[in-house]
Amino acid sequence: MTVNVLFAAVSERWDTYERPLKEAFDAAGLAVSLATDHPPAEVDYIIYAPNSELQDFTPYTRAKAVLNLWAGVEDVVGNATLRIPLARMVDHGLTQGMVEWVTGHVLRHHLGIDTYIHGQDGIWRREVPPLAQDRPVAMLGMGALGTACAQALVAMGFDVTGWSRSEKTVDGVTCLHGREGLKQALSRAEIAVLLLPLTPETENLINGETLGWMPKGAVLINPGRGPLIDDQALLAALESGQVGHATLDVFRQEPLPAMHPFWAHQKVTVTPHIASETRPRTAARVIAENIRRGEAGDPFLYLVNRDLGY
Ligand SMILES: NC(=O)c1ccc[n+]([C@@H]2O[C@H](COP(=O)([O-])OP(=O)(O)OC[C@H]3O[C@@H](n4cnc5c(N)ncnc54)[C@H](OP(=O)(O)O)[C@@H]3O)[C@@H](O)[C@H]2O)c1
Repeated sequence: MTVNVLFAAVSERWDTYERPLKEAFDAAGLAVSLATDHPPAEVDYIIYAPNSELQDFTPYTRAKAVLNLWAGVEDVVGNATLRIPLARMVDHGLTQGMVEWVTGHVLRHHLGIDTYIHGQDGIWRREVPPLAQDRPVAMLGMGALGTACAQALVAMGFDVTGWSRSEKTVDGVTCLHGREGLKQALSRAEIAVLLLPLTPETENLINGETLGWMPKGAVLINPGRGPLIDDQALLAALESGQVGHATLDVFRQEPLPAMHPFWAHQKVTVTPHIASETRPRTAARVIAENIRRGEAGDPFLYLVNRDLGY
């Protein structure tokens, strides 16, 4: 039997996803009618990006699941019209991209690369950086992305502490949880990476108090979500020297307005939400696998917990 799959994302995405999705459905042995305009009452699955026009799920009476193209679900998880399972994206390509971005930016600060890029002034200064084993890094968020990044940093020798909501064990990583765990993780972090989802619990987690727990001059790297950080508290901490540098990929308002103080700030690096992206070829396989599961009556992968918001 043919399964009707609606592709509900901004129109440019259709061009990049149509072929990989069709190939993945074929490879999974699924007979799928994939379109951007199925009649709502005939749709079985919805491939979804939260910035699509579809915001009212009520007419999709037959749909079995919404399969998000993004890892972050904060813009859809609270949608009261969505009453069917919601899966977030966990994609090998997305994870790999994040590992590369995070390790690159951690290494930049660890090695003090800026000193040599911006300080080529004829003076021979031999300041040898410590080895990674002597550089404590905190990974706030130990999910699909945080764990992969933490493991990559451990493989390079970094002294990594991970922090999550629930207790966990990851080889080579000191794993902490809870408020006291956060304090402990930040208290020794010379570099902290934020890979938390945005939920009511994580909004403004990085504020004047928590920034104050970090060693003076620590570096903050945020590829998670903008509202994890209280911007005014961060600006104050940069001003006082409590935070030495912030590398930010995500912001409360995106695109970051041209007049925002982060753009011109000497101690802030802005990247325009490019840390990582869902990669159509690998993501299509994840979506096909979830539809296969749905059709076989197997549990969906990567289901979002609505109560927790991620
Ligand atoms: N900048 C980019 O390009 C980009 C790309 C993709 C994703 N992202 C962001 O990255 C985020 C993480 O993605 P993911 O796939 O790794 O998510 P995930 O697998 O759902 O992991 C989330 C992690 O955060 C932890 N967490 C959630 N709420 C918490 C709380 N209140 N206190 C402490 N820890 C908490 C979870 O703890 P438990 O393990 O205990 O559940 C888990 O370890 C996404 O939500 C998205 O916002 C950004």
